[in-house]
Amino acid sequence: MAKAVAANMDWNHLGFQYWDLPYRYQAVYRDGEWHEDGLIEDSSLTFSEAAEDLHYGQEVFEGLKAYRCKDGNVNLFRPDMNAQRMENSAKRLSMVPFPKDKFVEAVKAVVKANQDFVPPYETGASLYLRPFMVGTEPMVGVKPSKTYVFRIFATPVGAYIKGLTPMPYMVSDYDRAAYAGTGQAKTAGNYAGSLYPAMKAKAAGFADCLYLDPREHKYIDEFGGANFYGITKDGQFVTPKSDSILPSVTKKSILRIAERQGLNPVETQIKMADFDQFAEAGAMGTAAVISPVGSLTYKDQKYVPFSETEAGPVTKKLYEELLGIQYSEREDFDNWVQKV
Ligand code: PLP
Ligand code: COI
Repeated sequence: MAKAVAANMDWNHLGFQYWDLPYRYQAVYRDGEWHEDGLIEDSSLTFSEAAEDLHYGQEVFEGLKAYRCKDGNVNLFRPDMNAQRMENSAKRLSMVPFPKDKFVEAVKAVVKANQDFVPPYETGASLYLRPFMVGTEPMVGVKPSKTYVFRIFATPVGAYIKGLTPMPYMVSDYDRAAYAGTGQAKTAGNYAGSLYPAMKAKAAGFADCLYLDPREHKYIDEFGGANFYGITKDGQFVTPKSDSILPSVTKKSILRIAERQGLNPVETQIKMADFDQFAEAGAMGTAAVISPVGSLTYKDQKYVPFSETEAGPVTKKLYEELLGIQYSEREDFDNWVQKV
């Protein structure tokens, strides 16, 4: 694949796709310690055909964005939380975590090295960072690897789901993660398992699936790539409490924003049968940002919480506050932003 050229980028029409940028960060774990290669140019990776990850799936990853502000500065949003979640994911997969303090430093180094690819402020696009780690030891027995590669690459992206455009979703009969499985870890297998239901949903005209809890199929869990929220008819912000969903950085931030906006937010089990109690609903995540549910189809019944064409007022207010903080245009009341 050819290297991306900043002068040729069409910033206003970026999708959510990979561009091969000039630099990425790499560290390798062997002989019981991490060895930093630092910034490298080669976007390919070479390892044994018997590498642990290729057969038994030791892989964890993260996703976060760098935002170009009006004054030209570049912001990161709560990168320490991604570092912590990656450590948690690595532990769940019996992998050796990459040091958290180095994680944030390395993210900043990758943004700086590729700064011409942080999209201009006016475009609403951003630079997506993808830290990931794979087990590379050659093996055929099922066990944890003793060697790992950790990398962070970057790619400029538009919104994954176009900001504030309501989307049609369907409730899946499949599970994304098993009960007491790896749902709380950001690991490749959870996404591999969601491809088949997601492709079926797309073929039927839906943007993605909403998954129910894997034990009883009774409570709302999350979307394939984002957490769920609903706004009740009396204005309360509600989001699922579940052991099989990804603890989302965006969700934690919106909970705090919702509290400050007087929405009395709560994390609780949400019965799918109660979905019609919501006046608004949406998806939240780094790629998704905040994206309204236009409609949700469950057992051939279509529910429209607010509108299929317009975002609801509470969703709009949460979205404006979140983006305002990310772009340093609103008060960063809990010091979430880190300058690159
Ligand atoms: N849930 C899943 C399954 C995801 O893939 C993501 C995206 O990372 C999220 C939720 C949202 O998490 P975050 O807000 O940390 O990006
Ligand atoms: C993210 O939001 O960073 C994700 O990893 C979600 C993925 C489906 C793109």
